[in-house]
Amino acid sequence: MKKTIISDMTEGIDSAGIALGGKILREGGLVAFPTETVYGLGGNALDAEAARKIYEAKGRPSDNPLIVHICTPEALEKITAEVPETAKRLADAFWPGPMTMIFRKSELVPESTTGGLDTVAVRFPDHPVALALIREAGGYVAAPSANTSGRPSPTLASHVWDDLRGRIDMIIDGGEVGIGIESTIVDLTGPEPVILRPGYITQEMLEKVVGRVSLDRALDSDDPAVRPKAPGMKYKHYAPKAPLYIVEGGQGAVQETIASLAEKAASEGKKVGVICTDESAENYRTGIVRSAGTRTDEATVAAHLYRILREMDALGADVIYAEAFDTAGIGMAVMNRLMKAAGHKVIHAGEEAQA
Ligand code: TXA
Ligand code: MG
Repeated sequence: MKKTIISDMTEGIDSAGIALGGKILREGGLVAFPTETVYGLGGNALDAEAARKIYEAKGRPSDNPLIVHICTPEALEKITAEVPETAKRLADAFWPGPMTMIFRKSELVPESTTGGLDTVAVRFPDHPVALALIREAGGYVAAPSANTSGRPSPTLASHVWDDLRGRIDMIIDGGEVGIGIESTIVDLTGPEPVILRPGYITQEMLEKVVGRVSLDRALDSDDPAVRPKAPGMKYKHYAPKAPLYIVEGGQGAVQETIASLAEKAASEGKKVGVICTDESAENYRTGIVRSAGTRTDEATVAAHLYRILREMDALGADVIYAEAFDTAGIGMAVMNRLMKAAGHKVIHAGEEAQA
């Protein structure tokens, strides 16, 4: 067991803490830090040994590549073989921000960082603590989400502590993150940009800047033979311990179905979790009822989803029912994560529920 140092930056940047974090990273250690999306587990991206330590700390398969975080536009040139014109336009529009782009990599980036691929994922995050830390570390920080592999990504420093204490050198606490789900990943290595993972930056937002942007086929297929281009998207992910069912259909039917499933499960002695919205919360009388946010702004749902999934674990839910969300805008990212958390178990409200 390592001693894990905690540095409190909830009230703002602490320069002594950044200096220490930067030193740990330069020397090959691991530092978890806040970004605008979720907490990241950082290691020096140009150090093959640091990448190996990240995989080990997370219990992550080493064929699942890491995102390299930068803090200046110039850094992009050094780690890529080629930056297409479309990528420059996307960078101008959305960096710093919650968008990751995939490029052909340069020699500088070791294959252990990219999971053996000849491409590299690059992100320029929009968070003062992240940017200060990356600068202090030398400019290139590999960072997956700072959770144990398979658990929901951390949106609070306490989530990182629960998963990784004793396995990493330092956690920087920046308070609750703003967005709450991981960055949009866009592949720029083909003839047209392809979204490999939906996020806060939506397809419509990308298309306004560069014209046609497509979606990786695996995103709207539950056929396991269709392999996602982002290796991490193939794993069952973001999963709570209890089985989770998504209930879809008209709002009234969804609420009635969840209420009756919850009562049935409770009558069998099960602890039931219900994930709903501000609009429906007071209609549920049974179980642990949590509103993730409001249907009028699904970014609020994105912000709270992972915290609620972790809470369901902590409270010992035996089964969880969640309302489905609209897939327009950020809703696509919300439903992508929720479907993965549920292992694609969907109940259609109105039909005979078999759960
Ligand atoms: O918002 C985020 O992106 C957060 C914060 C910490 O920046 N990071 C994050 O990293 O979500 P991670 O490792 O949990 O997810 C990275 C995803 C994985 O699905 C991985 O397979 C994919 O990016 N990826 C990384 N490099 C890739 C590459 N060269 N080609 C295709 N997919 C890649
Ligand atoms: Mg992750």
